[in-house]
Amino acid sequence: MPRLSAWFIRSAMAYLALGFTFGALLLANKGLPLDPALWRLLPVHIEFVLVGWTMQLIYGIAFWILPRWRSWRGNETPVWAAFWLLNIGIWLVALSQSLGWDPIWLVAGRLAEIASAVAFTANAWPRTKPPGA
Ligand code: HEM
Repeated sequence: MPRLSAWFIRSAMAYLALGFTFGALLLANKGLPLDPALWRLLPVHIEFVLVGWTMQLIYGIAFWILPRWRSWRGNETPVWAAFWLLNIGIWLVALSQSLGWDPIWLVAGRLAEIASAVAFTANAWPRTKPPGA
């Protein structure tokens, strides 16, 4: 497995563990009210499982299995950019909603996530082709 895929997939699993833990806390808090402030974890739970887990797993597997030129997987620089932009975006979206920051940080986080998809596509697009093309 390429190093980049390992970073994406390990990171995805960390978000899954955190996302499920926060989900379990939210669920427990519904049956046995512990602290109303725990509801602040809801946007973090949603962002971690929907974007942190699923998107990073997709990026990690796609970078690994898309067609190569012999053993070369294309320019890795935009894919590293995609990794950091996605992770910065996830934390900005999660923290800005959870802690009630100015909505500009939510917009900044979403823009970082969109930029991450564009950067990932720069590598994946030319690799998406039938055999021999
Ligand atoms: C990949 C798996 C999961 C995904 C994609 C997911 C996604 C979501 C989403 C989108 C919401 C917001 C729903 C809404 O506002 O209507 C939510 C809420 C919630 N999730 Fe998850 N979740 C996942 C796993 C879990 C797990 C494993 C637990 C518990 C152990 C959990 C506990 C909760 C709770 C308690 C809420 C709040 C429900 C409420 O509004 O009363 N989630 N989840």
